Amino acid sequence: MVVLVLSEVAATELNLEESFTTHAGIAHTRWATHGVPAPRNSHPQTSGSGNDFLVVHNGVITNYEVLKETLVRHGFTFESETDTEVIPKLAKFVFDKANEEGDQTVTFNQVVLEVMRHLEGAYALIFKSRHYPNELIACKRGSPLLLGVKELNDDVCNGSAFHDAKFLSKNGNPKELFLSSDANAIIEHTKKVLVIEDGEVVHLKEGGVSILKFNNDKGRNGDSLSARPASVQRALSILEMEVEQINKGKYKHYMQKEIHEQPESLTTTMRGRLLRGGSCKAKTVLLGGLKDHLKTIRRSRRIVFIGCGTSYNAALAARPILEELSGVPVTMEIASDLLDRQGPIYREDTAVFVSQSGETADTLLALEYTLENGALCVGITNTVGSVIARNTHCGVHINAGCEIGVASTKAYTSQIVVMAMLALAIGGDTISKQERREAIIDGLFDLPNKIREVLKLDQEMKDLAKLLIAEQSLLVFGRGYNYATALEGALKVKEVALMHSEGILAGEMKHGPLALVDENLPIVVIATHDACFSKQQSVIQQLRARKGRLIVMCSKGDAASVCPGGGCRVIEVPQVEDCLQPVVNIVPFQLLAYHLTVLRGYNVDQPRNLAKSVTTQ
Ligand code: G6P
Repeated sequence: MVVLVLSEVAATELNLEESFTTHAGIAHTRWATHGVPAPRNSHPQTSGSGNDFLVVHNGVITNYEVLKETLVRHGFTFESETDTEVIPKLAKFVFDKANEEGDQTVTFNQVVLEVMRHLEGAYALIFKSRHYPNELIACKRGSPLLLGVKELNDDVCNGSAFHDAKFLSKNGNPKELFLSSDANAIIEHTKKVLVIEDGEVVHLKEGGVSILKFNNDKGRNGDSLSARPASVQRALSILEMEVEQINKGKYKHYMQKEIHEQPESLTTTMRGRLLRGGSCKAKTVLLGGLKDHLKTIRRSRRIVFIGCGTSYNAALAARPILEELSGVPVTMEIASDLLDRQGPIYREDTAVFVSQSGETADTLLALEYTLENGALCVGITNTVGSVIARNTHCGVHINAGCEIGVASTKAYTSQIVVMAMLALAIGGDTISKQERREAIIDGLFDLPNKIREVLKLDQEMKDLAKLLIAEQSLLVFGRGYNYATALEGALKVKEVALMHSEGILAGEMKHGPLALVDENLPIVVIATHDACFSKQQSVIQQLRARKGRLIVMCSKGDAASVCPGGGCRVIEVPQVEDCLQPVVNIVPFQLLAYHLTVLRGYNVDQPRNLAKSVTTQ
């Protein structure tokens, strides 16, 4: 949801021909939850002819059917299939009722507070009304919302005055205000933001802002308009991102840019966290956000990784090294599945929440559930100030920089690196594992170079994409450290190139997938050099015995041993420490998915039906 509170900006950005005289505007990119993508379901949704109230909404209203029935009984007619439409209609109902009862002075705030009282589910909302020209009200519960503030008065902008939140009073008089669910939408205008919290109501009027905290309990006698929400004052935060991060630079697409900037993003992820040399020549890892909790994590009954999509795959890639170095059992949970099962979480558990955005609804709900069950919650996110970063007990930011392409690439590799560092930090300094730990640390230092090397496969992967352009399906076989690579590689191809693709645990080949093998279906086998290498050689032989059409990913120099006698296409990648190999191995898949998408003519950065951060359940 993007709201630009300046008519000129909105007009230029939206390329509209008409100019506006209003100083408050709303716009929204809708994620279709209720009703197909169509003009009637687009936002803003309205209260009906006359546009008394207009609303944009990010989230899902779970009790919309009950509200709709009530509003229909009061004579409202509905035109969309959205859950959102009940909101502006409810606002009109509240406004009309107050007026009928003789309250001509009902304020915009009061109307919205009353509407909020009836809403269940998750939402970030922005209201506009012809009854309150040049005013906007925003509120939220569960979905993210940021207020951006640009060009404050000098006395508020500089030094300590900045922290006294004066701008919230009318004296502040900021020039431009922005409301958005995502920092990317406002960074080119301002870095000064206020993270709006659940239950808060933001009122923009005449360049001023006031924020009220709404307590969802009914007022005395159920008379909610008389309830007195408290006024909120909080200091602004400064976004730690640069406009350049949201430009494509020399690249055609964000995904392409983000794939190619991985040597730098990984360097930033590790900066200040790896120590090598010095007087004691020790090689160690420092994760400041965890230092007070490492002992508790080491004593955990188990470590549970929780995430969705690519973030889940990154955790899966890191699981073996966590188990090896910590000695603590590690289990995996897809956030929605944990919630569906209401799976057991114990006070003695450490739950690690992995999320690029830090705002994914399923992961957030799993976090709430885990907090209720008393486990120690660790956040691994790319978004400073995100809900997961704020609501976990401790954590690590991956510092991969802003990721805009919907298909996650650089965040994935940075997440694995952070979790490898987490394994090193938990593992401590046991003598028996010292050599292994030092090899991993050396490997981490060298990783950006190895990624530079593997990125040189760009043209080779483009050629492979040309070969696969018309295929219906692609299988990817991996195991051990690279089972995650198989899942993530297949996910990349699926989500952007819109080609059916499946990641398969090679150990399961005989139990079903083998039936699919023929001379037509392309199959990628990941057989880089690690403890599973000979098993993968055997998998390749069995696939070849069934005339499988193979593409084998192997370590440099291994082509002859993975494909004796030739006959399969080989992708050679640099070899690194086994637990870091998934970071290298995913890059050719990212490149393949990217080129396939471009060649097939699909939208690279915003694939059909998907969103970067899924803030609805
Ligand atoms: C969406 C995105 C994926 C991402 C997943 C989890 O599905 O399209 O790229 O992996 O959400 O997002 P998170 O922000 O929690 O990592």
